[in-house]
Amino acid sequence: MPLKAVVLLLAVVCVWCVEECACFPNGSVAFSCGNMMPVHPPFSPSTSSPPFTLTTSSSTYTPGGVISVTVEAVQNSSTEFQGFLLQARSREGNALLWPVGKFTNIDTTLFTALHCKNMKNSTVSQASGAKRKKVQLTWEAPSNSNYGDIYFSVSVVQDYTTFWVQLNSSALRLDSSGNSAAGVFSPSALLLITLLSLSANS
Ligand SMILES: *[C@@H]1O[C@H](CO)[C@@H](O)[C@H](O)[C@H]1NC(C)=O
Ligand SMILES: *[C@@H]1O[C@H](CO)[C@@H](O)[C@H](O)[C@H]1NC(C)=O
Ligand SMILES: *[C@@H]1O[C@H](CO)[C@@H](O)[C@H](O)[C@H]1NC(C)=O
Ligand SMILES: *[C@@H]1O[C@H](CO)[C@@H](O)[C@H](O)[C@H]1NC(C)=O
Repeated sequence: MPLKAVVLLLAVVCVWCVEECACFPNGSVAFSCGNMMPVHPPFSPSTSSPPFTLTTSSSTYTPGGVISVTVEAVQNSSTEFQGFLLQARSREGNALLWPVGKFTNIDTTLFTALHCKNMKNSTVSQASGAKRKKVQLTWEAPSNSNYGDIYFSVSVVQDYTTFWVQLNSSALRLDSSGNSAAGVFSPSALLLITLLSLSANS
């Protein structure tokens, strides 16, 4: 192939990468942002039951509230994973293929913050191929109520040939009842609990 054609081909591939995937030139796992598919030709996603769980600290969320999200190997399993891609999604309207909200306090020595669909820190993946049994991240909900119920979706790479795509958490119901007092651990709820235990003791 003439040099010009090679350069052109590389340029096309690079543009595609910038738009479509979270590519890591240093050999870490690369994913596509949209379908969350690892770029691992010629292998396709595993259809067996995944040895990983995706859990959240709450089954509801409030606008602007934070949720802790955990991906980990099932109990007592020796399985480890070397790559993942995690984001929140909504089933409302055209948000279906877009991440929702953003991750906060991302430790960049462990994780790579990604800006899928140009949304800053909307998606997180690993920073290296180091094997892990568990990762935990903090997610902040959008400050509006436009997204309805949301869920988290993760793709997990055990190794080059074995990976699971778009494992979904249970849905988190939008709690837009107004102020933060709706949260279980809000100061007023804690005050109420304190008051209740005071009266129980008296
Ligand atoms: C995991 O291992 C512990 C200790 O061996 C055992 O008590 C527990 O039942 C196991 N849990 C599962 C889910 O197998
Ligand atoms: C995104 O995450 C990085 C790494 O933690 C942080 O430095 C940056 O301020 C974040 N940006 C936004 C818009 O949250
Ligand atoms: C791989 O590249 C990503 C993105 O540039 C970087 O954040 C990460 O630290 C690198 N990992 C290693 C092991 O060099
Ligand atoms: C997770 O949800 C997405 C969007 O509805 C769906 O395409 C995907 O198949 C689901 N994943 C699994 C493992 O069922």
